[in-house]
Amino acid sequence: MAETIGELYQEHRNMAKLLDLLEAELAVYRDGGVADFDLVGDIMDYITSWLERYHHPKENLIFEKLKDKGAEAGALTADLIAQHETGEELTRGMATVIANVAHDAEIPRDLFERLAREYLDFNRRHMEKEEAEFLPLAEAALSAEDWAAIEAALGAPEDPLFGPKVEERYRRLLENILDAGS
Ligand SMILES: [Fe+2]
Ligand SMILES: [Fe+2]
Repeated sequence: MAETIGELYQEHRNMAKLLDLLEAELAVYRDGGVADFDLVGDIMDYITSWLERYHHPKENLIFEKLKDKGAEAGALTADLIAQHETGEELTRGMATVIANVAHDAEIPRDLFERLAREYLDFNRRHMEKEEAEFLPLAEAALSAEDWAAIEAALGAPEDPLFGPKVEERYRRLLENILDAGS
């Protein structure tokens, strides 16, 4: 398996852990408890500043490559590119609502609940679709040369949360992820 594909699957697993943690905190809030909004803020920060900045562009490069190769992927890639845009809008909306709630703004609980549900479902469905349709297609259609070109274009940025060196600002988040997984 090309290294980049392996990374994409790994990043999906990482994202799934973050969504589970987010869901657990939002459930605490929904049930009237005291949610850890600092932690929730860290999750949204990581999704915005890493996953959407590095994971999506990586996938977008693969979409381009598939198009160049004439792979029968037009509708699928158009759909996934559109989903990346929608996903980023949902992240911005969600981050804003969460920041407001964390600062005691009054947001109707059912509205909050609906937004959170939509956010979690959208992201989980997006990853499922990619793993069911896009990643197997990319693996079948692209050559070692294609992957080398993709990897050269991407460089090798290090993941600040799940990478070899955890950035200070994500240390607490990582501890929570590890606790949740044990
Ligand atoms: Fe994606
Ligand atoms: Fe993805």
